[in-house]
Amino acid sequence: MSGNPGKSVADYRLLARQYDHTTRRINRVRLDAIDALALRPGEVVLDVACGTGFSFAPILERIGPRGFLLAFDHSPDLLEVARSRIAAGGWSNVLLVEASAEAADFRAEIEQRRIARPAAALFSYVHDVMQSEAALDNLLGQLAPEARVAITGTRLWPRTWWPLCVPVNAYLYATHAQFITNRGENFHRPWAKLERHLVDFEVHARWPGWRYVARGQLRSAEPDGP
Ligand SMILES: C[S@@+](CC[C@H](N)C(=O)[O-])C[C@H]1O[C@@H](n2cnc3c(N)ncnc32)[C@H](O)[C@@H]1O
Repeated sequence: MSGNPGKSVADYRLLARQYDHTTRRINRVRLDAIDALALRPGEVVLDVACGTGFSFAPILERIGPRGFLLAFDHSPDLLEVARSRIAAGGWSNVLLVEASAEAADFRAEIEQRRIARPAAALFSYVHDVMQSEAALDNLLGQLAPEARVAITGTRLWPRTWWPLCVPVNAYLYATHAQFITNRGENFHRPWAKLERHLVDFEVHARWPGWRYVARGQLRSAEPDGP
């Protein structure tokens, strides 16, 4: 089952202006995921479906002016906010592209700018992207061998937390209608498809149990791309 990109772009058109305010309660867990990447000065990082660019400043703080940030999203409305963030920050080491996760291609820019392939990739609240095998093949194929990957987002409460999981999961299902187009797929284990590409994979639940931070390292057998 794949997501519904048209619905996603339309939903985020309505959400764009208040997106940062609406999502303020997940700021802490998003920062925890960036910490899980263990970024070093000078590294190149891929921010997958970056939205309004909440993660830009904390990533850039960690990689410094010699580092480089590659980011994309398919929502022009969220990217408008992201662009104003870049302008306000005066950052020249960010490349922001409007593209789908299935088509985003940074290879030519990487070669032209003589930067390394991303040593780290952030998947922050990107459930739809993580359910698309085509997106994962495309994005992971552009990373450096053994790149570090961090994931954060919402997962349903485990069924073993019965009976409380019933109303909680109904609440999560309803409140994520505008943010995720394919809640029917892997909402209990959103990382399931991405995990297959990673080694040393670990998931840590965060309060109140429906947030998580996961991390792993790209399998060395992952194709390098052309
Ligand atoms: C909940 S937002 C998360 C944004 C950002 N990563 C964050 O942490 O705030 C989900 C994002 O995924 C983007 N998205 C969903 N499906 C996509 C796809 N197939 N290609 C590109 N972006 C996609 C949406 O436009 C939106 O920006």
